[in-house]
Amino acid sequence: MNSPGQPGNGDQPPSNHRRRPRYTGTHPKRFQQKYKEHDIAAHPELRDRLRAKGKTPSSTHVPVLTEEVMACLTPAPGEVVVDCTVGYGGHAAEFMKRTGPTGKLIALDVDNAELERTRHRLSQENVPVSFYRSNFAGIAKVLNKEAIDGYDIIFADLGVSSMQIDNPDRGMSYKHEGPLDMRMDDRLRQTGADLLNTLSEQQLAEAFWELADEPDHREIARLIVTQRAVQPITRTSQLVNLIFSVKGLTPGIWRQQRRSSGSGSLHPAARTFQALRILVNDEFGSLRELLRVAPYCLRAGGRIGIISFHSGEDRLVRQSFRDGISNGIYRSAAKDAIVPQMREINSNPRSASAKLRWAVLG
Ligand SMILES: C[S@@+](CC[C@H](N)C(=O)[O-])C[C@H]1O[C@@H](n2cnc3c(N)ncnc32)[C@H](O)[C@@H]1O
Repeated sequence: MNSPGQPGNGDQPPSNHRRRPRYTGTHPKRFQQKYKEHDIAAHPELRDRLRAKGKTPSSTHVPVLTEEVMACLTPAPGEVVVDCTVGYGGHAAEFMKRTGPTGKLIALDVDNAELERTRHRLSQENVPVSFYRSNFAGIAKVLNKEAIDGYDIIFADLGVSSMQIDNPDRGMSYKHEGPLDMRMDDRLRQTGADLLNTLSEQQLAEAFWELADEPDHREIARLIVTQRAVQPITRTSQLVNLIFSVKGLTPGIWRQQRRSSGSGSLHPAARTFQALRILVNDEFGSLRELLRVAPYCLRAGGRIGIISFHSGEDRLVRQSFRDGISNGIYRSAAKDAIVPQMREINSNPRSASAKLRWAVLG
């Protein structure tokens, strides 16, 4: 477990002292054992060592395309920026440096636990900032609460944070054994397990195909429905094993295949997990609503920038900005998506599929 509240802990709100976890071997392997990484502000040498290897310390997130975001959106002193997906606050901190004490950052996230940690960290800066536990589909309501006439910048960095994907209790990754929860917002009523155990075979197959292009979508949906009649599917490992069996693989054969085809090959369960997570969190629905209301929430000359990691999301953003140009809503927009340079991908492999698009209100 982490050790919140210990001296030097800049990342965690204070709480009771907990005993340090024991582990065998020289390095902790399990998420819960990585107590130094959970308190990374107190262990800068470990952060530097992990980052030099292209790794993201547990309980942190490395922001992507930061320089490019700042260059496109040009935050200036006195401006109001809404960071729709504040996460660990990496982009937010860069915005705050530029908007300064006369500007304002409005930080949104649906994940309350991470929002509280980030609130603690960012509130130490000398820049006005307010936090909302809110879906970014509600940016217009936030504007009313703030009693301002519009944002100068709307920014969203879609998808999940490293803190969420690396925490086995969130059930978002095929790499970790845990409950199939997958909710970014724990107020949502249905978890990944709930959907797997209640949707029809056809609904599941459609989701795996439409949200993640899973080629074996029909077979995976069929086996889920057969297996759940015997025993509910509630753990990540159950779903991973089921997918391996549909694909006629074992973890050993997969590792061999991966070695011979290169480390870039996708894990057999990656697409199904991605589709289920998108479904649980209605990620496309929220993005559509954000894109619809954004122009009404921007001041004249205001800028919007969105980073996506999924071709379906990038398509929605591109189309919305194109339509905005044709309708005269946006004055200009990115012609092509901006992608990370090789040096960023090497230092943070999780940035590899990021695409940034921007537009400027007319
Ligand atoms: C990729 S991370 C953002 C990382 C952040 N830019 C940083 O520098 O740390 C995405 C974050 O968006 C949040 N999120 C995803 N969908 C959301 C939505 N519809 N409304 C608000 N927050 C959302 C997630 O909970 C997660 O914390």
